[in-house]
Amino acid sequence: MSKTVYLGMTADIMHPGLIHIIGEAAKYGDVIIGLLTDKAIAEHKRLPYLTYEQRKKVVEHIKGVKEVVPQDDWSYVNNLRRLKPDYIIHGDDWKTGPLREIREQVFEVMNELGGKVIEIPYTQGINSSSLDKDIKSIGTTPDVRLKSLRRLIHAKPVVRILEAHDGLCGLIIENLEIQKGDKREVFDGMWSSSLTDSTSKGKPDIEAVDLTTRLQDLNNILECTTKPIIFDGDTGGKIEHFVFTVRTLERHGISAVIIEDKVGLKKNSLFGTDAIQTQDSIEGFCEKIRAGKNAQVTDDFMIIARIESLIAGKPVSDALERAFAYVEAGADGIMIHSKNKSGEDIREFCMEFRKKYNHIPIVVVPTTYDHVTETELHEWGANIVIYANHMLRAAYPAMRKVATTILENGRAKEVCELCMPIKEILELIPGTK
Ligand code: SPV
Ligand code: MG
Repeated sequence: MSKTVYLGMTADIMHPGLIHIIGEAAKYGDVIIGLLTDKAIAEHKRLPYLTYEQRKKVVEHIKGVKEVVPQDDWSYVNNLRRLKPDYIIHGDDWKTGPLREIREQVFEVMNELGGKVIEIPYTQGINSSSLDKDIKSIGTTPDVRLKSLRRLIHAKPVVRILEAHDGLCGLIIENLEIQKGDKREVFDGMWSSSLTDSTSKGKPDIEAVDLTTRLQDLNNILECTTKPIIFDGDTGGKIEHFVFTVRTLERHGISAVIIEDKVGLKKNSLFGTDAIQTQDSIEGFCEKIRAGKNAQVTDDFMIIARIESLIAGKPVSDALERAFAYVEAGADGIMIHSKNKSGEDIREFCMEFRKKYNHIPIVVVPTTYDHVTETELHEWGANIVIYANHMLRAAYPAMRKVATTILENGRAKEVCELCMPIKEILELIPGTK
């Protein structure tokens, strides 16, 4: 019986380094490619441009590949135990850096199974990481960006979204990453907030900033980012207008719109019952959802129904009744909002909703219940967590402090250490020089 060699890869961008390692692997036996799924990758690297099925199609036609199997975890352990290959092959780059632990686990399991680990010199100059940077600088297409939210929902326990009201926020969300243990923590996408879009223009959050104006600014974010965007569609406006909004957002590559079940003059939800606001009837809002779903052109665009019952002081049972009706009307997800500080009402809603619908995404906005962690929100059943206004709220006090300090001192010397160095701002955006 011929020997088997296991080789794990993402194979998003084919390059000579991958062909080389497949060739090396084939010298030892039949090559089984463990193709990493979106789920395996999502917490460690950006999602591949190609879907699993597309990558599989490419890899299974490469000379020397005997079989392609999914690898559903970042760790090799489960697949190695299941397939018991005679060899596993890997580039020697994993001897240092974040893959060190993965390497140790692999040695342990292969020892246990009586197999061998083969390490070959990493291909210098051209490899997935360097190509990744090149590809990122090319950007994305509306189609790829639009689809990426659904892929992330399937791939990650919690999709982490942060508010962006200009290109600079977009750049931070696009590029910021920290390493936590063996995981890379990033923001998965952006929230185009009606509150911060209005506030940054010195306007109240009452649907006074029209779609065209909001899209002009959103375009700055689209230009310098690739991650998915969820658009705060307020009430969605009149049904006759909402159908145009849906198509306009799709054309821009926006992944989802969230509309709230209010009618009349909308005020920001965080006023709670301090502002007089009227909730739409269930039937009225269902009609809007249905009209939006009928209008959309792509399969992947999402219309998410936002329930304002808890904001309006109504019980969880009212929110649930609405949620079930909105899902029946075709909503692709539910956003449940509350300004309660404990988060208890949100937890109750999520747990109850999950008893009936397992797969409909739940979106939460933990602004007032900010002590609750993403892990807890996930345990309650939430899929998307939106940090809805924090970039604007962070910027304003910083700017005010600088302005006050200049007034106090009659010069700018004292604010120097509060500001980023001129050199840094010149180099912040590639292409400034
Ligand atoms: C927004 O960010 O505009 C929202 C969320 O709609 S909230 O402000 O909490 O209502
Ligand atoms: Mg809003």
